[in-house]
Amino acid sequence: MMDMLGRPEKDQEQDKKRSRETSQNIVKFRKIYEDTRKGDAAKIKAQKEKGKFTARERINYLVDEDSFFEIKTLVESNCTDFGVKDKHIKGDGVITGFAKIAGREVAIFSQDFTQLGGSLGMAHAKKIAHLMDMALEAKIPVIGLLDSGGARIQEGVESLDGYGEIFYRNVKASGVIPQISVILGPCAGGAVYSPALTDFIFMVEGISYMFVTGPSVVKSATGEEVDFDTLGGSQAHSEKSGVCHFVAKSEQDCFRQVRELLEYLPQNCLEKPALTITEDTADRKTKVLESICEMDPKKAYRVQHVIWRLADNYEFFEVQQNYAKNITIGFMRMGGEVVGVVANNSAYLGGALDINASDKAARFVRFLNDFNIPILTLVDIGGYLPGVEQEHGGIIRHGAKLLYAYSEATVPKVTLVLRKAYGGAYIAMSSKYLRGDFNFALPSAEIAVMGPGGAVEILYSKEIKAAGDKAAELKEKLTKEYKDKFASPYQTASTGSIDEVIEPAQAREKIIRAFRILKTKRDARENPKKGNIPL
Ligand code: HXC
Repeated sequence: MMDMLGRPEKDQEQDKKRSRETSQNIVKFRKIYEDTRKGDAAKIKAQKEKGKFTARERINYLVDEDSFFEIKTLVESNCTDFGVKDKHIKGDGVITGFAKIAGREVAIFSQDFTQLGGSLGMAHAKKIAHLMDMALEAKIPVIGLLDSGGARIQEGVESLDGYGEIFYRNVKASGVIPQISVILGPCAGGAVYSPALTDFIFMVEGISYMFVTGPSVVKSATGEEVDFDTLGGSQAHSEKSGVCHFVAKSEQDCFRQVRELLEYLPQNCLEKPALTITEDTADRKTKVLESICEMDPKKAYRVQHVIWRLADNYEFFEVQQNYAKNITIGFMRMGGEVVGVVANNSAYLGGALDINASDKAARFVRFLNDFNIPILTLVDIGGYLPGVEQEHGGIIRHGAKLLYAYSEATVPKVTLVLRKAYGGAYIAMSSKYLRGDFNFALPSAEIAVMGPGGAVEILYSKEIKAAGDKAAELKEKLTKEYKDKFASPYQTASTGSIDEVIEPAQAREKIIRAFRILKTKRDARENPKKGNIPL
């Protein structure tokens, strides 16, 4: 008898059999995925005992609910040596896929320490490499959650080649899509160079560590005794080496910070960050800057107080907060637009530019330029830091990076001189002739080749010597004359190197207006991708 679809009885029987087989297939398929995602209970317990989340939990905590779209879940290693075959594990120690963060697509990989210690073999590396290729094609950010014993020892040189594949792609993607590395466990040996090639590194206190050679190798090579945390923990890398950009108290705190960072970034180098209009009006007065003008120029202040007052809703997302504190860098919004800030911080080393501050600021300026983020530079600087250590450490080479970075940057650049701007450091801090678009100064600005004391001693050393008892009096008179001429912004404004001296209370309004004028600024440079920055 025919059924409703007009099928004869024989066909109906065949279809019923096929349906039973199909449902068995579906059961099998579901079981494979369920087992793969469940993981090894004992290893998961050990992971938790270290105070760490699992690779899957991490993704779920970081991304928008139910947005994770996994690919290559079932990939396994081909390796048959040293017992790896017996441990062939689906996924090969890394979870890869796509997800949304605040509604925006990102590519994400999460190394699974419970599988072969999250070690990187060729299959594991290929999963990451494939994800990066797709992210680069789709022009979306890549976020790596790293927790790995490094190159998979059993796979020999293939695992090193796997790292090569990833490093190559890190470089290819550099300046095209934002790359973020979140260190959530060990990251040792050459493995550290993938995060080092990305734009931002996050670490979590107590669970993250990074080093090229661990404590035991250090001990046998140099005799130094050092533990994991002291050698390569979050404090070492956020305060001393400058490798790490953000430190979190916990994994949850870390994921919150990653989400916050992403709010300031565009998806790729062809886009701009999203506009976020708030209630904070563009013409809000910045009276606090009047206090800067009234202050004793020798007194220090934390420049963050100025930045907060200039920013929409007083919100400033600082980068590398604990490293080279003499320069302050980070993101904020002004009139709704994301702006990157670079500011001398007189509270540390008088805000002088040293090797570390130059590197920190130069790299940030280059990032901002790559991702179409306008730059606000706040200047209060007596010069480059003097000293044998700095000279022999290469302050010439490192300081040059900042000149290079500002000169090549074609994004809108607004500069405000708050107080001192002396010598080479005046030029380096986005001055007019490095192509600052708008160069403003407060009435308190002092712009000159050098400070009054030093200048008078060089210019009038013979006269001061000859004045005998009256030397101090003469020096004071000459210093006053020098100050009257240079310890103000007016001489520089008369040459046009400062476009306008502005009312302190109007600083926010003027800066926002300047950035709005520059909104349609386009890169007019020849060969913008070429050049050889001093490294
Ligand atoms: C293969 C590894 C592994 C690795 C860990 N495992 N690292 N398997 N290759 N590199 C495995 C362990 O055998 C173990 O497997 C499981 O992961 C968990 O490791 P444990 O040692 O039990 O965990 P723990 O005590 O927490 O110690 C973690 C560790 C330690 C500090 C990371 O495992 C370690 O020192 N591993 C080696 C680190 C290293 O030297 N890697 C090579 C770096 S050189 P079972 O089956 O017992 O659970 C490198 C070069 C890259 O990466 C070059 C790129 C250019």
